[in-house]
Amino acid sequence: MKILVTGGAGYIGSHIVLELCDEGYDVLVLDDLSLGNESSVDKRAEFIKGSTLDEQILKKLMPEVDGIIHLASFKSAGESMINPSVYTQNNIEGTLRLIDVMSSYNKKNIIFSSTAAVYGNPQYLPVDENHQTNPINYYGFTKLMIENTLGWYKDLKGFNFIALRYFNAAGYDKENRILNLENKPQNLIPIIMECAAGIRRSMQIFGDDYNTPDGTCLRDYIHVTDLAKAHINALRRINDNNTIFINLGTGFTHSVYDVIRTVEKITSKKINYSVTNRREGDPAKLYSSSSFAKKSLGWVAKNSDLENIIKTTWSIYKTRV
Ligand SMILES: NC(=O)c1ccc[n+]([C@@H]2O[C@H](COP(=O)([O-])OP(=O)(O)OC[C@H]3O[C@@H](n4cnc5c(N)ncnc54)[C@H](O)[C@@H]3O)[C@@H](O)[C@H]2O)c1
Repeated sequence: MKILVTGGAGYIGSHIVLELCDEGYDVLVLDDLSLGNESSVDKRAEFIKGSTLDEQILKKLMPEVDGIIHLASFKSAGESMINPSVYTQNNIEGTLRLIDVMSSYNKKNIIFSSTAAVYGNPQYLPVDENHQTNPINYYGFTKLMIENTLGWYKDLKGFNFIALRYFNAAGYDKENRILNLENKPQNLIPIIMECAAGIRRSMQIFGDDYNTPDGTCLRDYIHVTDLAKAHINALRRINDNNTIFINLGTGFTHSVYDVIRTVEKITSKKINYSVTNRREGDPAKLYSSSSFAKKSLGWVAKNSDLENIIKTTWSIYKTRV
């Protein structure tokens, strides 16, 4: 069975490619390398440099493909509010082109990388799949728009799709098979790791006066290997055609100070930080219910304890010290 992984040279995509290859799938990676690294793509997979915006490449690849895992997109919430047109083009137009070519070649199976950002500010916790979708940044809107489009294609063209709504992806392959650092990291853990490795001098904490035990925000971190395994389960179930939107999180949280303390313990490095104002749109607490993922995918996170996330990440970042 041949799986096309768009964005497969990126951080999460390269881990999914590893898992697919380990499970014996034939894997084709399409990535324009705008943020990814070709050297992150496992040698068992075939790599094509190209964009989802390039209809000719999509038409060339599509006939041989049995299923698609679609990660290719930009993911910076902040940048999407400043340059929405870049996100319109890459995330929306790129995906519409992919869907269109899929449809014209009668290919129907797609797993879509969605995000907790489709929910916006949590109205209750843990956030489950019935929570209203009301993104508060343009990035989240682009993902919601694609989810809605896929819903229409399910009804109109018989698409089978599963939108996996990731919470905070973190960690690295425990066998150190992915060696590239995240490009332009926006998330807490790679930023702290860059401090530990001396790549950046210090970091900012956006507010420590939230209504949480230590005043900093609480988030749900999911190990990238757990994410990758969920995609395999989703591929196996995609033809059931009854599960559509699934959260991928652990249901547990860690504060910013928890993460800094754990990094300091594991790396024996002091992290320099300053506390600044809160950022707009950052809820105090955000975590997922994992019960639907368990029920629908038979999936539970087994690698996502914070120490394991930090240890596997440090084993890559420490090579840059
Ligand atoms: N990292 C997270 O915590 C997180 C959380 C929720 C959702 N997601 C989603 O997961 C997916 C992967 O995220 P990531 O953290 O691995 O990001 P990443 O930037 O490391 O990977 C994205 C990859 O897609 C490629 N790409 C971008 N636009 C492309 C295009 N038009 N055509 C071909 N390739 C293109 C980039 O070169 C990169 O290799 C994204 O869709 C992101 O929105 C990530």
